[in-house]
Amino acid sequence: MKTLISEKEIKQLVKKLADQINFDYKDKKPILVGILKGSIVFMSDLMRQLDFDLEIDFISASSYGGTKTSGEIKILKDINCDIKGRDVLIVEDIIDTGLTLSHLKKILESRGPKTVKVVTLLDKPSRRKIKFKADYVGKVIEDCFVVGYGLDCDEKHRQLPYIAIFK
Ligand code: PRP
Repeated sequence: MKTLISEKEIKQLVKKLADQINFDYKDKKPILVGILKGSIVFMSDLMRQLDFDLEIDFISASSYGGTKTSGEIKILKDINCDIKGRDVLIVEDIIDTGLTLSHLKKILESRGPKTVKVVTLLDKPSRRKIKFKADYVGKVIEDCFVVGYGLDCDEKHRQLPYIAIFK
């Protein structure tokens, strides 16, 4: 495995995103919604750099039939909180085809929140199958398979403190 983003660079990316979010969400008391499982490491680092009141929740989704080509998303675990009238910030580790987030964002938006925005640590725009743009992006990467810092390959390597290219 070859390191793509070092621990030091991840810290800088998280700090950059936290600075933007601290500025935009001051006095808003948002709900951060992490998408399981990949986002948990990023979410835990990000939230510790946010200096406003916030709540957290988690949602888990999978594509039908184990393939992302259908574009159909099934919710495996929903959030527990009521987001009506609230500011929601979805926290994602990586956007690839864009299918997961575009579906989840629509589902959350249908529940009457005040706003729904998305922060992602990594973005692979070259892989999009559907138009989707995050509000906050840590780093745009090329089309390569990455693991570590929450990201897995067959559930392995999530615990790596850096992000590596898996060959
Ligand atoms: C990964 C990643 C995103 C999604 C992005 O999750 O964490 O949630 O895929 O892909 P997309 O833009 O093509 O929809 P995965 O389904 O691998 O689950 P995991 O987070 O539990 O690893």
